[in-house]
Amino acid sequence: PTSDARAGEVRTPLVIGHRGAPAYAPENTLPSIDKAARVGSAWVENDVQRTKDGELVVVHDDSLQRTTDAKQVYPGRAPWKVKDFTAAEIARLDAGSWFSPAYKGTRVPTLDQYMRRVEHNHQSLLLEIKNPELYPGIERQILKVLGNDGWLDRPHLKRLVVQSFSAASVRTVHELKPALTTACLGAPPVSRLKQYARFADLINPSYGSLSKAYVSAVHGVRGPHGRPLGVYAWTVDDKATALKVAGYGVDGIISSEADVVRAALRGR
Ligand code: G3P
Ligand code: CA
Repeated sequence: PTSDARAGEVRTPLVIGHRGAPAYAPENTLPSIDKAARVGSAWVENDVQRTKDGELVVVHDDSLQRTTDAKQVYPGRAPWKVKDFTAAEIARLDAGSWFSPAYKGTRVPTLDQYMRRVEHNHQSLLLEIKNPELYPGIERQILKVLGNDGWLDRPHLKRLVVQSFSAASVRTVHELKPALTTACLGAPPVSRLKQYARFADLINPSYGSLSKAYVSAVHGVRGPHGRPLGVYAWTVDDKATALKVAGYGVDGIISSEADVVRAALRGR
């Protein structure tokens, strides 16, 4: 996953649909990645966590409260942590009505269901391991699901990046599957980039912590596969910011308004 830059050319960053297409459909659901595909997002981003009985599910918050009707369905079980509910209990929840009545009955997808839909849509995935400290061993488990669904075979590997805010989790993924492309979320100090480059191919900072000098410094270090480290900025949802970070030379932009960002970049 690289931008289509050649030496001397202006870089056109890859644009990745943050949680699918959350401006149009409920985040991290199957309708959200379908919609992302329809607005031209060949790449989508998601968040993976684990249920009480060990199922991997796609949901952003560590609580089900914001993006499902868990509070109504299970009133006595505050604070509705993902890790305290079984997969069967979560499968009963409505993960669409909070967004719009048009999405009533949308479910929290399992990772397996999600990967099958990404494949069906011919999309690529930036998979975030969310809160790995809550889920010991989740890295190996995610790789098992990805492997079962064919995502660790050579052609598919180009369509997958695994990222986390936890550098330890990213390092574990790299050690378990060295061929996989990995990314650390955040902006480590330049002095520590070489340490990250042992296990991460990309450094993915919030756009607010970016500068042209930082992007150049990251590009100046080679990652575990011998290529210069890449930079994907998040979460860039407006034209001005998109143009600014593209001018810094980022390789990717993670956006909740991916169609807006793509249009902005086309109009440069
Ligand atoms: O992909 C980067 C971005 O998703 C990290 O923040 O909170 O939206 O997962 P968050
Ligand atoms: Ca995320």
